[in-house]
Amino acid sequence: MCGIIGFIGDENVTPIIVKGLRRMEYRGYDSAGLSIRTNEGLRVIKSVGKINDLANVEDLNAISGYTGIGHTRWATHGKVNLENAHPLSSCAGEMSVVHNGIISNFQTLKKELEKEGHTFRSSTDSEVIIHLFEKYFKIGNDIKDAVLKTVNRLEGSFAFAIMLRDGEDIVGARCGTPLILGLGNNGNFLTSDILGFIEYTDKAIFLENKEIVVLGKHHFEISDFEGNLVAKEVTQVAWEFGTPTKEKYSHFTLKEILEQPLALERVISQDQKPIDLFCKKLKTRAKVVITGSGTSYHAGLYAKYVMRETAKISCDVVVSSEFKSQDVDHDTSVLVLSQSGETADALRATQIAKDAGCQVLSIVNVVGSSLARESDISLPLNCGPEVGVAATKSFTSQLALIYIIASRIGIGDDSLITSIPQKVESILGEAERIKKLVNGYTEARDFYYIARSIHIPIALEGALKMKELSYVHAEGMAAGELKHGPLALITQGTPVVVINPTDDSYQETLDNVVELKARGAKVIGISTVSHEVYDDFIPIPKVHPLLSPIIEVVPLQLLAYYAAVKMGQDPDYPRNLAKSVTVN
Ligand code: M6R
Repeated sequence: MCGIIGFIGDENVTPIIVKGLRRMEYRGYDSAGLSIRTNEGLRVIKSVGKINDLANVEDLNAISGYTGIGHTRWATHGKVNLENAHPLSSCAGEMSVVHNGIISNFQTLKKELEKEGHTFRSSTDSEVIIHLFEKYFKIGNDIKDAVLKTVNRLEGSFAFAIMLRDGEDIVGARCGTPLILGLGNNGNFLTSDILGFIEYTDKAIFLENKEIVVLGKHHFEISDFEGNLVAKEVTQVAWEFGTPTKEKYSHFTLKEILEQPLALERVISQDQKPIDLFCKKLKTRAKVVITGSGTSYHAGLYAKYVMRETAKISCDVVVSSEFKSQDVDHDTSVLVLSQSGETADALRATQIAKDAGCQVLSIVNVVGSSLARESDISLPLNCGPEVGVAATKSFTSQLALIYIIASRIGIGDDSLITSIPQKVESILGEAERIKKLVNGYTEARDFYYIARSIHIPIALEGALKMKELSYVHAEGMAAGELKHGPLALITQGTPVVVINPTDDSYQETLDNVVELKARGAKVIGISTVSHEVYDDFIPIPKVHPLLSPIIEVVPLQLLAYYAAVKMGQDPDYPRNLAKSVTVN
């Protein structure tokens, strides 16, 4: 969710913090702020809106220092306004904090601190952190001792960074949401995301839960919440995950949709040995349960079909926010799917699975993420950084890798997938047609997406893309369910997208379309063959039925993207959302 960054070094910190924040803006973009330690004390600059809006508040070039922290916010507690934007300050303004997470006992702490004379200026949960720290620092004048006392009073999830006017070091803590040290030649970073520092260094230390760090220009000290020193390994992170730019494209989302053939090539051509090991491990437990959130959950639903059809493994799929210990036992392999590897719901499910003695396997895009590190075995998606809040290339990459795994387990051959990148390329050639088609639906307030069998996850995913990007209500469902209720919603001109390639379910789905037409629906057909019953038609190439979902979703991504642009929404930064959902 929120992006946090701290830097202490030999270079002017302001541009470094601003650049880092821009890279992490996908984590949240309600408001932004930074605090710089200058000769005149801490300078705190905040604005509502995006990082670029900070420059309208003050000339950032005129503020220089060597220690600073910054924040890009996704609001949980407290409205989106200037008072609630981070950094938040201590009573006298000589300490600042940036926080990601939720402090669940903040009300009790706030009351206690107010009684002791602390003045709160925001309605956030986060502000208690800086007042607690201030209280304990004033007693002992010791930065480590103060942060230890602070974290031991907090409940909930947090990663934070605190800096002081009267002291060079930055202090941070992690409990439930990510915090990473970047060790550079000219200074050190503390961020919620490697994107915050990757341009400067590829040397990282991932803090674990219940660890604090005291960070200086050329030194650091990591301890557990009891204050015991902890030795950590330095990890080399991949540069290729470093500097995503929009290049010639108007939005990251469009770039990432168009990048899919390349992303799929990378999935297909990745090192085979880890995949084989993954397949072997998956089979070592009697039961398989798959979990994920949002788009990753939809990939899990696809996995259920392909595992059953190819690998002859019957799996349960549980959305991560509903994952319970009753869903698993010690003889279960739990497969966790996540682009970011930081989704709080997926991490909570992982913890439940581990506590139950399950084997945890994961498929993750962000190498070095919490999920990748907490799994018994993890496979990377290798599809490159995905910046657009809407998952696009990570979804098709998940499907491709799941297909590869299921086919290896089942028939020992996944060669059919090699044609898929080129087939996706051919669908991207339909982009202009889809862009024009959107003009016929600008008045629509509801969209329905229907499909049968293995195509149902694609109906769900198409609807998710539409609501997330264009803010138009959209629902995906099994075509057979229409007559059990949803048909009542169909009136003259209601748009229905039907995913209907020519496989076993083709005719039945077509029958449903006829029923929809009889009630006035305006149908967009996505199929390998055209039919007069469709008002609009988007052709897709014919491929093996188990691979078809990888192809089908692409026009739906384009449909949602162009609908968003047409309606004047910013597809890269949908309102109220963030790329990485690190709160439960
Ligand atoms: O990083 P994850 O795959 O764990 O994220 C899960 C969901 O938050 C994510 O897929 C979300 O639904 C997307 N914004 C959908 O486009």
